[in-house]
Parts: sequence; structure tokens; C-alpha cells
Amino acid sequence: MERSRLIDQESVDYLSSLVVKGNVEKHHTLLGEGLSGQVFSFEDYAVKVYKEDFSENDDHLMLTNLDAHPMFPKLHYQNDKFMIVDQVKGYTLAQLRDAGYKLKDAQYRQLEKTIEECYESGIIPHDIHLNNIMLDENGNLKIIDVGRFFYSDHKEDYQDKIREDLDKIKYHCGLFSLFSSSRRKRRRHYTSSRPRRHYTSSSHRRHRHHRRHSRSSFSFSFS
Ligand SMILES: Nc1ncnc2c1ncn2[C@@H]1O[C@H](COP(=O)(O)OP(=O)(O)O)[C@@H](O)[C@H]1O
Ligand SMILES: [Mg+2]
Repeated sequence: MERSRLIDQESVDYLSSLVVKGNVEKHHTLLGEGLSGQVFSFEDYAVKVYKEDFSENDDHLMLTNLDAHPMFPKLHYQNDKFMIVDQVKGYTLAQLRDAGYKLKDAQYRQLEKTIEECYESGIIPHDIHLNNIMLDENGNLKIIDVGRFFYSDHKEDYQDKIREDLDKIKYHCGLFSLFSSSRRKRRRHYTSSRPRRHYTSSSHRRHRHHRRHSRSSFSFSFS
């Protein structure tokens, strides 16, 4: 892909050579690690180096689609081994929860609004959990991992799962729901006329395969 205006070719070449040699960690601080990769600090950037055996390394496709949204880090460079995005200066919600920090109502609503906007655009915000969301030094939330977001023409099938993920975050961040997910589920059981499709990771992959490369008409009114 093209380099963004902000990152120069020299930096990209430098990082590429470290990644190829497999010694990024000798020179740069590890910010965090997940199933798909390790994330290192480089200047004001976060460099996500994909694990060799991990096939799903197309975070950048979704990040490109979400580029206009302030709640997602900007993508500056990607190839098949690593990608470079804005570094979020702050902590994951998991770290904050462990430190006893409680999310403010307004911060949670900001997250909920973003998730709803994705959903309305046909993007299923899958894998939303405490390690994939960070709070930056200005008190703004950022969704840092969109590697498992995908497009679906059957977004209603995922509504319950998304609601459950949000409820879990709410619970862990000290904001409690009036109704637990299980109570809501029971209510739905009696009122829903449409059979629910069971959510499985394979069905998610299937939809993802169909549409993961398509660009959305995703646009936001704010910059
Ligand atoms: N843009 C970023 N800025 C700062 N830290 C990040 C950033 N992206 C990821 N991290 C850190 O790296 C960890 C793993 O990144 P993530 O993208 O979730 O990897 P995986 O896809 O393997 O789950 C995160 O939980 C977070 O601690
Ligand atoms: Mg993650």
C-alpha cells in the first residue's frame, strides 16, 4: 500500500528489516500482544507484527474502511508481515479495570454509538472486548483491534452477540445494566417471531469471506 503522508520510507525500510530479522523486540517496547500479533512502539506509531502462523492478518482492510472515524487508529502502512497505525497513548480497558478505574457514562455511550454506527453500515464489530479498546490520555476511547470485524448482509443475526459484548464491557467497567443479557434473552424468546441463527465462528468467517474486501459506503458526518 501507499505510505501515509506521515511515515517516511526510511522508517518503513528500517522496520521491515527488523521484522524480517525477527528482532523488533530488541529495539522497541512491546505495547501488547494478542492472538494474531505483537504490537511494538515506534515513535508515535504502533507496529503490529503478525504471527507467522496466523492467517487472518487483514486488519488493515477494515481500518481503511473506518479511516474517517475518530474512534479508530489511522493506518499508515501495511504489508503481509506488519502494519503501522497511530499509537494510542493510554491503557486498555482490561488494564483500567484491573486498576479499579470506572468508565464514565459518557465514555461508554461514545463506544456504544460507534458500535451502532458500524452496525448500521453493515459492519459487524466482532471481538469487542476489554483488550481491544483503549482509553487515551485525553479520555477518548479507541477501538484498536478490528481484525475480526466483518461485513454481513444478515446483521440482525449478530445483534444479540454485539449487545452481550457491550454489556460485558459495561459490567467490567463498573457500569451496570438494568437487565442482564440472560433476562433480555428470555424476554426475546417469547416475543421473537424470527428464528435466531446460531452464531458460530465458522458462520462469521463465511460472511467475512463474502464481503470482507468490499468497501462500505461508510461515511460519517463528523471528521
Ligand atoms: N494502536 C495501538 N496503540 C497502543 N497499543 C496498542 C495498539 N494496538 C494494539 N495495542 C496493544 O497491543 C495489544 C494487542 O493488539 P491487538 O491488535 O488486539 O492484537 P491481536 O489482533 O493479536 O488481538 C492490545 O491489547 C494493546 O495492548
Ligand atoms: Mg486483540
